[in-house]
Amino acid sequence: MIATIRPARKLDGAITVPGDKSISHRALILGSIASGDSHVRGLSPGGDVQSTASCMRALGVEIEDSRIGGRGMNGLRAASVPLDCGNSGTTMRLLAGLLAAQGFESELTGDESLSRRPMDRVVEPLRQMGAQASWPPFRVGGRAELHGIQYATPVPSAQVKSAILLAGLYASGKTAVIETVRTRDHTEVMLGAMGADVTEDGPRVEVAHTERLEPLDIAVPGDFSSAAFWLVAGGLVGRSNVRLLGVGVNPTRTAFAELLTSIGFRIERTNPRFEANEPVADLEIWRAEGLRPLHVNGGLAAQMIDELPVLAVAATQLPGTSVISGAAELRVKESDRLAAMEAGLTAMGADIVAQQDGWVINGPRFLEGARVDSRGDHRIAMALAVAALIADGKTEIEGAECVQISYPNFFDHLEYLC
Ligand code: S3P
Repeated sequence: MIATIRPARKLDGAITVPGDKSISHRALILGSIASGDSHVRGLSPGGDVQSTASCMRALGVEIEDSRIGGRGMNGLRAASVPLDCGNSGTTMRLLAGLLAAQGFESELTGDESLSRRPMDRVVEPLRQMGAQASWPPFRVGGRAELHGIQYATPVPSAQVKSAILLAGLYASGKTAVIETVRTRDHTEVMLGAMGADVTEDGPRVEVAHTERLEPLDIAVPGDFSSAAFWLVAGGLVGRSNVRLLGVGVNPTRTAFAELLTSIGFRIERTNPRFEANEPVADLEIWRAEGLRPLHVNGGLAAQMIDELPVLAVAATQLPGTSVISGAAELRVKESDRLAAMEAGLTAMGADIVAQQDGWVINGPRFLEGARVDSRGDHRIAMALAVAALIADGKTEIEGAECVQISYPNFFDHLEYLC
């Protein structure tokens, strides 16, 4: 599908972004091994979370609407076919951790993009725990006697951390993960709420062997990483006022909003509350004023890894030179996001040069509508759509249907706000 987007004069209105993708995956996986039925309202409707749901069903779990029929810690059964994780790295890496600890072997597969992504980062620690794991092809499990380890992750990654913690639930003793930067902690928060013995101490997380998890009864907060597109769009499109209702504002996710505020964006939080043990608020955005260039390095990049494509769009409108570095991980996401944003924004007239681990962007530049390629990557499609809102003339985004991975009604929301 080609999405045709014309410039917007203002964005106005209130929307509710889809349920958080990271929390939804975790609710489906942990709900499946809880003792009894969980009720999880507002699961992400995106393709990635559907991949996790279909894998859990293939492992014998009943999932209907918001009900997840938990089978207990040892109630999963071997799937008769390889588990198809689709486009979802989170599905593949988290399930690898869970399945490495089962007495049966599983094979995990995915689409062309996922098949290219590195899985050795989970294979290595799982093997250290005594699990059988190999890649490629990705096979895990079949020897259930795991032991706890202390693992310092070479690359900060919530997916790797979560895989190790999931395996750690089944391992003897305690399992600890130490990160150089604290990544999103939804697994730890949810495990704690379900009664597991999990402790967070700065960048160190530890979980003990667990016999039983209590079921969940939660509403999933809105996805901050989906809200991020509107934080930038609302700040850059003239006379805008956008309200985002019920967005998850877990501090391990919101570094991006703080960075935007520090360079002149106006974002206000109202109505703070808790859902699913996670902080939630409404966010209100007005047009940004007095913009300044931005600098992002390794630690910060890891804390806003999913927001970096749309941050590049913002940087094209900042005066001076903005530098984003320490983000080599973007080369191994759903697409090579450094190259994809460089190509898309260059076609639109931006001054952006991709480096090995980031971009150098000079601004401000008037953007012009162009035909650009999403490369089948949902966050590239949405970031380029935000650029299109501030460009002159029409922009056509190829492969725009990929927004269904995390935000199926993105273009409906765009139309509503314009
Ligand atoms: C996620 C972790 C991040 C992020 C992804 C979701 C998660 O990946 O990019 O969209 O839910 O744990 P990494 O752990 O590979 O950085």
